[in-house]
Amino acid sequence: MTLALASLGVCGLPAGAQQVQHLTITQPGGMPGLPVMTGISQVTNGVQLTWAGPSGYYLVQQKSNSLTAPWTALGQQTNLALTATITKLYSNAFFRVSGPAPKYAGYKLCLECHNNICRYVTNTAHATAFSSPDFKALGGQNNASCLPCHTVGYGLPTGFVSATATPQLANVQCENCHGPAANHAANENDPTVRPRVDIAATVCGGCHSASHTTFDTAPTYEEWSSSGHAVVVPDALQSMSSSTNSIRTCGVCHSGSARLAMIGGKNPAVTLTKDYNVPITCAVCHNPHQTNGSPDQLRNPVWSTNYFALTSADTATVAAFTNKYNANININLCAQCHNDRGAAWTDTSRAPHHSLQYNFLLGSVGQLLNGPSTFNPMPHAGLPSFTNYSISGTFYLTNQCASCHMQADSSDADNHSFAVTSDTVCFNCHVTPPELLEDYYLTPAISNSVTTLLTALNRWAAMQTNSLLTATNVVAWEYTNPGGLTWQTNSAGVVTSWSLSNPVTFTGPAAAGQSLLTTNFPNILKVRFNLYTVLNDGSFGVHNPPLARNLLSDAQIWMVQLLQ
Ligand code: HEC
Ligand code: HEC
Ligand code: HEC
Ligand code: HEC
Ligand code: HEC
Ligand code: HEC
Ligand code: HEC
Ligand code: HEC
Ligand code: HEC
Repeated sequence: MTLALASLGVCGLPAGAQQVQHLTITQPGGMPGLPVMTGISQVTNGVQLTWAGPSGYYLVQQKSNSLTAPWTALGQQTNLALTATITKLYSNAFFRVSGPAPKYAGYKLCLECHNNICRYVTNTAHATAFSSPDFKALGGQNNASCLPCHTVGYGLPTGFVSATATPQLANVQCENCHGPAANHAANENDPTVRPRVDIAATVCGGCHSASHTTFDTAPTYEEWSSSGHAVVVPDALQSMSSSTNSIRTCGVCHSGSARLAMIGGKNPAVTLTKDYNVPITCAVCHNPHQTNGSPDQLRNPVWSTNYFALTSADTATVAAFTNKYNANININLCAQCHNDRGAAWTDTSRAPHHSLQYNFLLGSVGQLLNGPSTFNPMPHAGLPSFTNYSISGTFYLTNQCASCHMQADSSDADNHSFAVTSDTVCFNCHVTPPELLEDYYLTPAISNSVTTLLTALNRWAAMQTNSLLTATNVVAWEYTNPGGLTWQTNSAGVVTSWSLSNPVTFTGPAAAGQSLLTTNFPNILKVRFNLYTVLNDGSFGVHNPPLARNLLSDAQIWMVQLLQ
């Protein structure tokens, strides 16, 4: 029996805990082998306790704050949920939970039944975390401060002791991520001791963190926590909470749990109604069990050149998704989500999604005077045909997105903030930094083109007479749900400044007005498509400068024709 303690004075977490429990703390070693209190908060009918720990039955006890007071059990030892609401309270009470004593087994015991998984896990870097020559050379094998992250259950009952006493618990194994599992191995049909499967980043973050070690370990978890991948955008959350189908259609890119369910062939709209709010965690990009041929255990490669888009037809059913996924497993990992979703210039409801970066990089999105842009990459796309832009034999963009967005951090590991944190990769090719810096963010050239285009679009709108396009608060050239651009004009109607900001106070024409545009003014559709393609890419042209320039200048040519 093992214990964790909390008192009401310590308070911390907001009331209303997540409906499905995930590990909320990071602990060296991964999944805790002992219960740890993670939260205590006042709720309307009492106090809610939450704790972390391996699977199994827990018992909650309470006592008053007098040191000599006895502990009183609250109910039986039957709690499996890692949370309890206590309604009968002492004032200033102390609480503790006791749970199963950890019992570690070592992965060889799992082989019998999980051979398909174990076979692969022995190929990963985890499987040599203790035995690697570097770890040995640094004295890690005999240094207590290193062992929690390089072995199973170090310092806990039945956990790793030493290479000679407990060789079966050396290296990082199943039980680091799933918790102690000997009870399960002995009673595989007992659901109460079935090991936990948690895709939370905190499981990996216990070890892949700079805050739990003095050794030079990369701050991967901390970087990830600061990234866009660590949160689900509020609007996507809102969609998923109001429509279970959206758990599939939005969740496939916005929710880590939904995406992994779909990759596993399960319909998240059915299984995850309470668990779609998990963001893009480590296990969404990394396969925890297999190398997949890359030492980084990525689910997909970091480089590809084939066209890819995940359309709404591809997410209409789980079967459609798995077919598409399996056929396109060799598409760039980032592109799996950062693609244009099949956006077309003929769309009338919405502007292209903010996710079109892969298509922009390869030049496979947007309308040019001579037709759709199907493949117009430039050196930034990292294609072999551009390796003549190498410096002293090195070509710097061979990992495509990751080359710029995951440049090495201070520990020389791949930076998981996914932000372009420095210019160093640029300076490898661009020898005149001042010119480059001028171009870095929203280039003056692009900003001016957008201003000119907006002025022209608004002039065209002012010339319209059909009431479908001229109703109050309707902007004639916009999508029915406007793309997000707002602007200021001077008295002559010339756009003086603009921004991408929500909420927008106007709408575009409704369906009938959109049909009118489609029939009579198809080039207006192409112009707005190009405009939002460049803006929603979010790199302000850097992903493909010539494409950005061409999309905006061809749009301007159409506007000149429309205004004649
Ligand atoms: C005697 C067979 C057997 C052994 C040995 C065994 N397991 Fe299992 N394991 C099972 C069965 C059966 C299930 C339930 C599968 C299911 O419900 O889909 C399971 C499920 C699991 C799950 C998934 C639980 C879930 O909710 O999906 C994990 C994780 C797991 N085992 C880990 C381990 C580890 C780690 C070991 C070694 C310490 C181990 N198992 C040893 C039979 C075994
Ligand atoms: C118990 C600690 C621990 C946990 C938990 C853990 N890791 Fe690791 N991980 C390590 C150690 C230690 C290494 C280095 C092993 C080596 O190279 O010898 C490593 C290596 C890796 C590597 C290979 C790095 C390389 O340079 O080749 C990847 C990828 C990785 N871990 C991802 C993950 C993911 C994803 C998770 C969570 C699902 C996770 N790890 C959970 C300790 C852990
Ligand atoms: C908080 C967990 C943690 C602790 C404590 C820790 N490491 Fe690691 N170590 C990791 C992780 C995670 C990796 C792989 C990813 C990385 O390098 O950031 C790693 C990688 C390594 C590597 C490179 C991989 C290899 O095997 O070649 C060595 C060497 C290493 N650690 C040695 C040590 C030594 C020595 C100590 C003690 C002084 C130590 N570590 C303490 C988590 C830890
Ligand atoms: C680095 C962390 C990590 C290690 C090591 C690890 N797992 Fe897992 N495991 C996970 C995660 C995360 C998932 C959920 C992945 C998903 O949904 O695709 C998972 C899922 C599972 C599942 C259920 C889903 C499935 O794929 O069938 C089983 C069973 C399982 N693991 C068993 C094992 C066994 C046995 C080992 C050791 C041989 C092991 N795991 C090693 C992290 C890990
Ligand atoms: C093909 C993958 C994919 C699908 C499907 C998808 N999204 Fe996105 N979405 C993304 C990516 C990637 C981003 C981040 C792009 C960025 O930040 O530049 C994003 C960004 C967003 C944003 C933020 C835009 C902004 O203003 O910065 C919202 C809101 C959003 N998505 C809502 C949704 C909703 C609602 C759905 C379902 C109807 C959905 N998404 C479906 C990939 C997708
Ligand atoms: C499983 C889907 C998925 C994968 C894979 C993915 N992303 Fe994302 N990414 C998203 C979503 C969704 C967002 C938006 C999250 C938000 O705004 O809260 C996002 C946000 C971002 C952002 C931040 C944008 C902003 O507005 O702050 C960057 C940069 C980014 N991703 C780059 C990458 C890179 C580089 C890769 C490949 C290494 C990648 N992403 C892989 C789904 C994904
Ligand atoms: C040549 C370097 C380079 C390459 C290659 C690259 N990017 Fe970017 N990306 C940038 C720069 C520079 C920015 C704008 C600066 C910023 O805001 O981070 C940017 C912006 C973004 C944004 C918007 C960020 C935000 O904060 O709104 C996303 C999302 C993104 N890139 C994803 C990707 C994806 C996905 C790929 C691969 C398909 C990719 N990038 C390839 C350099 C690059
Ligand atoms: C959006 C996808 C994505 C997510 C989320 C993600 N990674 Fe990675 N990770 C990558 C890619 C891509 C690489 C390889 C980059 C390259 O090859 O340039 C990588 C590399 C690594 C490596 C290799 C060693 C190094 O140099 O850093 C480790 C370890 C790692 N990731 C751990 C983690 C952990 C732990 C988390 C969660 C806290 C995580 N990753 C989340 C995409 C991701
Ligand atoms: C592998 C070499 C390489 C790297 C690395 C690289 N670039 Fe480039 N970049 C080029 C080449 C070559 C061109 C000219 C392409 C053309 O005009 O067809 C270019 C063009 C540009 C342009 C357009 C200049 C113009 O004509 O107006 C900008 C802006 C730019 N790069 C920014 C960046 C930024 C920012 C980075 C780093 C995040 C970067 N580049 C990294 C090779 C590179």
